Amino acid sequence: MPENKPFQRLPKNVIPKHYDLELTPNLEKLTFTGKTAVKVSIVNSTKEIVLNSLDLELKSVKLQYNDGGSDSTLSPVEVRLNAADETACIVFDKPLPEGEAMLFCEFNGEINDKMKGLYRSKYLTPAGEERYAAVTQFEATDARRCFPCWDEPAIKATFDISLDVPADRVALSNMPVREERIEGGKKFLRFDTTPVMSTYLVAVVVGEYDYVEKKSRDGVLVRVYTPVGKSKQGMFALEVAARVLPYYKEYFDIAYPLPKIDLIAIADFSAGAMENWGLVTYRETCLLVDEEHTSAVRRQWIALVVGHELAHQWFGNLVTMEWWTHLWLNEGYASFVEFLCVNHLFPEYDIWTQFVTETYIRALELDCLKNSHPIEVPVGHPSEIDEIFDDISYNKGASVIRMLHRYIGDDDFRKGMNIYLTRHQYKNTFTEDLWAALEEASNKPVGAVMSTWTKQMGFPMVQVSSEQRGPDRVLTLTQQKFCADGSLGDDTLWMVPITISTQEQPSKVALSTGLEQRTQEVVLENVAESSWVKLNPGTVSLFKIITLYHVSVGL
Ligand code: BES
Ligand code: ZN
Repeated sequence: MPENKPFQRLPKNVIPKHYDLELTPNLEKLTFTGKTAVKVSIVNSTKEIVLNSLDLELKSVKLQYNDGGSDSTLSPVEVRLNAADETACIVFDKPLPEGEAMLFCEFNGEINDKMKGLYRSKYLTPAGEERYAAVTQFEATDARRCFPCWDEPAIKATFDISLDVPADRVALSNMPVREERIEGGKKFLRFDTTPVMSTYLVAVVVGEYDYVEKKSRDGVLVRVYTPVGKSKQGMFALEVAARVLPYYKEYFDIAYPLPKIDLIAIADFSAGAMENWGLVTYRETCLLVDEEHTSAVRRQWIALVVGHELAHQWFGNLVTMEWWTHLWLNEGYASFVEFLCVNHLFPEYDIWTQFVTETYIRALELDCLKNSHPIEVPVGHPSEIDEIFDDISYNKGASVIRMLHRYIGDDDFRKGMNIYLTRHQYKNTFTEDLWAALEEASNKPVGAVMSTWTKQMGFPMVQVSSEQRGPDRVLTLTQQKFCADGSLGDDTLWMVPITISTQEQPSKVALSTGLEQRTQEVVLENVAESSWVKLNPGTVSLFKIITLYHVSVGL
């Protein structure tokens, strides 16, 4: 990004309502051609339409007003590409009148080897021939490498996707096929219209795959696509996915809105998995189970990954963050809910004990460094956006949501989630919108508590001293920012939900307000001097405990 020039989001004077997107991949030459017809709304008259486009050659760009038959097709005087901003500016000689119009583009590009945009994934046929599949990976900002579009999560639209592919290939997209024609070795497919959605969730796969399928209890057709000849390896994920959908439906009290969901194993894949709406893509090792060779740990991981991506179908896809600053909300939330769901499906895994070692501890390890960052970070340019898919967004995000879940309880958490998802469906949100819904459901100060965890980096160390006053035990809790290098923390204070269990009352006592001040006294009534006391049972709140004076304060 050029220095001195702050990153600019796309102007909102022209916004897309619906895309017709047609793609023709050439799987031999590894190139593609495409056409878009976008219904746009010109909200404020302007001479320029600015949208995202990267590494595409735009060939024919036209704007057509739909005014009762008379020919009002406008050709731009210039299409100015800006590679640094990843935009195309379509310039007309006169200001465009307000109203609805169609923007037509023809373009071509490479099926690249970068694992982003529309990219190639190599596979071997059972006969040993090397071939390529064409696969999309658009999150966070790479839909613009496949078609010119308004590539921001808050600029939602509907999509009619069509593909023109070799007749012997499997071609998939977010929605079921509406129409299919085979002519002279080519197959033309048109998919159903998507719901209103963000560009980063659009997906297409063209290749050779086998599948196994099942209808979930709530009537959704679930398929797991595998490499040819390996469909059995999709059975475990198929069972998990078919059971997860009704679980989330009941948990959120909102049905999965699409008629189908495909889970597909992709040979070359940069992340672990991607939650494209209705067509979730996975690295092979995150989806396929070979009954003879796959370890128990790996199966457990696959269940978590499937649970994570399917959680996004509601949290992320139906309701989407307004901008990438709120990415943690997507990823932290899904990284928490995947455990809820796996705990429900496989109680024998005892998965929550692993949350502490795999997620919570990792979050603290990073977050005690001086160069950590708050969960919510302002981001602009794509290079900054990529950086925040990190352990703070995922692991600290999941840990603070778990702390909140414990603080308000599962019933109110579910109630609040339903309020949030219903209120904001097909729209976008800020972190505060989730707090507002959970606050409404629980009558607890969720926003005040949680902002101390999302807007500040780090976490506190809580010093505990204990004193016996007659029949009661009195704990004095003092918080201070914890830093791994041993330096003394600054003035940062957190609102720390705290539970305590004692020998007399082993089933935890919650501090009604939590620890809010620097120092706070807690009176534990009728707790004998010889009894044990345990702070933060289950290791749920994020702090380190330091005990002073009294040995019987358990860690
Ligand atoms: N949305 C992400 C995939 C992603 C990650 C896209 C980074 C772009 C950049 C997906 O939901 C995800 O979080 N995948 C995880 C697996 C998950 C089980 C933690 C991954 O890819 O590691
Ligand atoms: Zn995720």
